Amino acid sequence: MNELIKKAEKTHNLSKDELVALLKNDSLDQEIFDAANRVRKKYVGDEVHLRGLIEFSNICRQNCLYCGLRRDNDKITRYRLEIDKAIEFAEKASSYGYKTVVLQSGEDSFYTVDKVKYLIGKIKSLDLALTLSIGEKTREEYEEYREAGADRYLLRIETTDRKLYEKLNPNMSFDNRVKCLKDIKELGYELGTGCMVGLPEQSIESLADDILFFKEMRADMIGIGPFIPNHNTPLSDSKGGTFEISLKVMALTRLILPDINIPATTAMETLNPKGRLIALQSGANVAMPNVTEGEYRKYYELYQGKICVNDTPAHCRSCITGKINSIGRIVSEEYGFRKKSCSCDCTSGGCCGDC
Ligand code: 5AD
Ligand code: SF4
Ligand code: FES
Repeated sequence: MNELIKKAEKTHNLSKDELVALLKNDSLDQEIFDAANRVRKKYVGDEVHLRGLIEFSNICRQNCLYCGLRRDNDKITRYRLEIDKAIEFAEKASSYGYKTVVLQSGEDSFYTVDKVKYLIGKIKSLDLALTLSIGEKTREEYEEYREAGADRYLLRIETTDRKLYEKLNPNMSFDNRVKCLKDIKELGYELGTGCMVGLPEQSIESLADDILFFKEMRADMIGIGPFIPNHNTPLSDSKGGTFEISLKVMALTRLILPDINIPATTAMETLNPKGRLIALQSGANVAMPNVTEGEYRKYYELYQGKICVNDTPAHCRSCITGKINSIGRIVSEEYGFRKKSCSCDCTSGGCCGDC
């Protein structure tokens, strides 16, 4: 086996140069995927955690160049769910056996702190773990949501290339993004972040930085997917990311952060019909089926070709269970919190021996 892969599998520690070397060498891909699969099995086992995704508003005040929900996109039909509707979807998710729901939306100021807190309270009373994915907020807001019962927060860094970040996210600041992630972590949420792969002008070196950043942030979950150009955005003519390189960034993330939760993302399956299954066999241990009902699904169009837009929550639930079982894995019946491999809070990724 390649020495670097061997080292990563054993120590969960690679330098930036070593990560770059692996990212640049296509002939090692399968070895990396297999090593990540072994590390996944050793640290987080064969169970796959399901998170039911509720996309409750596609209205966004931000204008990210890559995203179909961006403020200036007048080609999509906007919607926001009534709070009671979102609660109803969470109840249904619970009845389908989900133990976690993820509330995701654009940055929509209609949902005031009080409304979000009300929603959190209602969902927590259903005995569900709750993840929020509603964008950049003040530390005080994150604190209120945490106190109201939210367990996890997802906020992708998108890219750690500061210049690229600020080009792609007009009027947003890289420093503030990092501050949000630190606030979230300090407030005791499980922290989810991640990146897109294949953004215009994104370098291989910056992808290595992304992986090291996840470790530095002590992230508990990392979502990685290819950038898929959306026709209705300024990046419509971009090339976009490939399935293989996205999978490789994900697999390397598993090697460096052996005990975190890693979803097999929707964007992976958009580029490859077996994308989520391949991801689950290359380091991933989570899937996030959509539990939004009706026509809303197709309006949450981050990019075209998103999977499951015409399917029902019941169908997706049995579809994903079938797929997971077909590769000898099982759907977890637990909440799916991160099971840390050791008790110390160092940044080594694996066990540093100090615990
Ligand atoms: N291609 C792939 N992923 C995208 N996202 C937004 N737009 C796109 C796109 N065109 C991702 C971002 C965001 C998450 C909700 O969706 O990473 O954080
Ligand atoms: Fe809004 Fe998020 Fe899309 Fe940016 S990526 S436009 S913040 S929904
Ligand atoms: Fe939605 Fe397979 S998970 S159709």
